[in-house]
Amino acid sequence: MKNVVIAGNWKSNKTTADAQGWLNDFKAHSQSLNLEQVRIILFVPFTVLAVAKWAIGQMSLPIELGAQDISPFGEGAYTGEINGLQIKELATTVLIGHSERRQYFHEDDSLLQKKVEQAKKHGLSVIYCVASEKDSVPTGVDIVAYEPVGAIGSGTPEPPLKAGEMISSIKQATKAEKVIYGGSVTSENVASYITQGPIDGVLPGGVSLDPVAFCSLVAAATA
Ligand code: PGA
Repeated sequence: MKNVVIAGNWKSNKTTADAQGWLNDFKAHSQSLNLEQVRIILFVPFTVLAVAKWAIGQMSLPIELGAQDISPFGEGAYTGEINGLQIKELATTVLIGHSERRQYFHEDDSLLQKKVEQAKKHGLSVIYCVASEKDSVPTGVDIVAYEPVGAIGSGTPEPPLKAGEMISSIKQATKAEKVIYGGSVTSENVASYITQGPIDGVLPGGVSLDPVAFCSLVAAATA
């Protein structure tokens, strides 16, 4: 079996108490999982990072923490922003360029480039989302996530063969070494993506909110 990345994206969901409950349940349900060739990353809200880091350490869980955004600036007078130095204390990875950030917060290529630069400056690993092979990918990105907009949260995932073909094109166009697929991934369909040669992992949103469903997805991806 190849190494796979499974990156859960909680989006704007969960309190600190919810997060602690999720991690306790993950511990209980992940005991029998074979995680040797899996890298699990969890993108949680900023407000949850500290408590999640503590709980993951206490329970020795095989989970890397990620932030869902990063300031395009360093430290300073940027009210409301969370910068790379602050994120580095709590997380290893940052999600940049998600279509919801592009759509609702009007993030464009030049802003996203600055965010990637800040992440790299602080040694953070970057998962960068694109909707097609036409989207440019800034230098320094570690993993690209191909997420067709219509597949996100819709229950209508892109057919695995088509996703595999698109990911091959993205690898050719961007020279990205690792590209994962996101958009309505479930425990029922995850294997059909993972078994496509060019697909290096998945980025589940909705399913990652439930620790039992998330563990089932990991089990199906590693079976
Ligand atoms: P979904 O979200 O799995 O709920 O479709 C994926 C994403 O937006 O990253």
